[in-house]
Amino acid sequence: MKGNITFSMIKPDAVKNKYIGQIISQITESGYQIRAMKFTLLNTEQAQSFYLIHKDQPFYNDLVKFITSGPIVAMLLEKENAVDDFRILIGSTDPGNADKGTIREKYAESVQNNAIHGSDSDENAIIESDFFFSKLERY
Ligand code: RTP
Ligand code: MG
Repeated sequence: MKGNITFSMIKPDAVKNKYIGQIISQITESGYQIRAMKFTLLNTEQAQSFYLIHKDQPFYNDLVKFITSGPIVAMLLEKENAVDDFRILIGSTDPGNADKGTIREKYAESVQNNAIHGSDSDENAIIESDFFFSKLERY
């Protein structure tokens, strides 16, 4: 059975561009409940650790620099089929390929500065949520 939580992060580009309010509205209007939320700034060590799965990618160093370039908003979200539905809501990694009306199509700047993160599996939703929040928030 698919899990009912996902983890999301509004990235520094969208925070700088003043899209926090609009993005959170779209998320909650799409049926997600916010279970935990934190406005914070990641340091380099935290960003390297959060994105460790991408450490062999050519974009890893730039990604770490970008994600530490300004504050982010971390969120633990709840809804049925949370992970898969959220990936549809945010759209493709590259906003140029994102479906109309998706969060990335509306608010992202580029393939790297793409406004928002969404977990790609139930397992990663738990790992990523526990990176920012107390495990108690998930129950
Ligand atoms: P996310 O993890 O942030 O939800 O994004 P995603 O699954 O759609 O994309 P993923 O492949 O996991 O990549 C993580 C983030 O790395 C940046 N990226 N830059 N310069 C590039 O070609 C490139 N490719 C990926 C993006 O910020 C992407 O969301
Ligand atoms: Mg990903």
